Amino acid sequence: MRVLLLGSGGREHAMAWALAKSPALTKLWAAPGSDGMGALAERVPLDPLDPKAVSAFCAEKGVELLVVGPEAPLAAGVADAVRAAGVPVFGPGKDGARLESSKAFAKDFMLRHGLPTARARVGGYEEALAAARAFGGRCAVKADGLAAGKGVIVCTALPEAEAAVATLAATGAGSTLLVEELLTGPEISMMAVLDGTSYALLPASQDHKRLLDGDLGPNTGGMGALCPVPLEAPLLARIRSDVFDRALEGLKKDGLDYRGVLYAGLMLTPDGPKCLEFNARLGDPETQAILPLLDADFLELCLACARGELRTDRVPARPGACVSVVVAAEGYPEAPKPGALLTPEAAEGREGVMVFHAGTRKDGDRWLAAGGRVLAVVGLGADLAAARERAYGALPLVAGPRLRWRKDVAAKVLGRSLA
Ligand code: AMP
Ligand code: GLY
Repeated sequence: MRVLLLGSGGREHAMAWALAKSPALTKLWAAPGSDGMGALAERVPLDPLDPKAVSAFCAEKGVELLVVGPEAPLAAGVADAVRAAGVPVFGPGKDGARLESSKAFAKDFMLRHGLPTARARVGGYEEALAAARAFGGRCAVKADGLAAGKGVIVCTALPEAEAAVATLAATGAGSTLLVEELLTGPEISMMAVLDGTSYALLPASQDHKRLLDGDLGPNTGGMGALCPVPLEAPLLARIRSDVFDRALEGLKKDGLDYRGVLYAGLMLTPDGPKCLEFNARLGDPETQAILPLLDADFLELCLACARGELRTDRVPARPGACVSVVVAAEGYPEAPKPGALLTPEAAEGREGVMVFHAGTRKDGDRWLAAGGRVLAVVGLGADLAAARERAYGALPLVAGPRLRWRKDVAAKVLGRSLA
């Protein structure tokens, strides 16, 4: 099977690693790929946002499966163009990807199809201000469009909420705003793969979005993840019935043939799980902690979804747990400084340790930081505590000065201390 993977981040390095394990793989290209995944895939200088260029490459090289990593190519209609040319694609079309690319569309979808979610008002600057006042300032203010994790401000007082409306209204993504009631509770990432008519759940995971230990500091793209989150059977059943069954029914009613990942960001509130957001692709850095645990051929799974032939409602996982700790460049997220030295080869051969590159660059024999989130050190163990120990045991070998990482990834899960 000849496969093209779109993307270049840590999630895509993990996806390339998982695809490369499949006995069915004969050739893997990555566009644009990264130096870090160079041993797994041939890099191609192709614009992943250009539907025509990606289709032309697939036709020329006889690509048999397109796997889309990030959201931007989905929103740009790349999956539609390639699917229209007869190539199976793992990733929804532009219409389905609106569940991520427009928060207003996602909220409307959730409300119309009865998914549990926060009460919200959608509108321009004036409506948003009025809504913030109506919620007494206890609200989440969100820009409608894609904003790379920077489009949400959580507020607990009115002056803060008014300032948030003004700030987001001034950004490109913020001509339409959402103002939501403030919810509380632990957050989990629940992902499913869909084949157009059915879905299979991946094991539950948890991101660590804030920059600093203790969930302090600014929001980031994600500073670490753990998998699995231990969920009691009744809660899992409720997530299935109230979120994913209804989402699937909703997609069908709306005439959306959705093939790829549906990611629900859930808050486990005292009133039950509520859906904060959808993404149309795998989470980053959750993927780096989920894929090593799967007891399934990832290529076959993507292909089954792309062809509409999913035959299970749960992607099987191995026993054990995985913890991924993100290393970021000094200055991240505002102004990451490039150039810090990394030594991922020092972790090679350590039992239960993997390194997935996100923003690195090979300079001769040396690995240098070349992005905000630089790489993830992943530990795999019999349980979360063992996985955590492995990740943190390897970290000082891989990363040093001018780099930062959280020291408390997976120290707690669902409020319970593990460390
Ligand atoms: P989103 O991009 O919608 O997931 O929002 C980013 C983060 O903002 C979430 O992970 C939550 O921590 C927080 N958040 C979003 N919506 C709410 C809400 N209604 N109440 C409380 N926190 C929220
Ligand atoms: N880890 C959060 C995301 O991928 O959106």
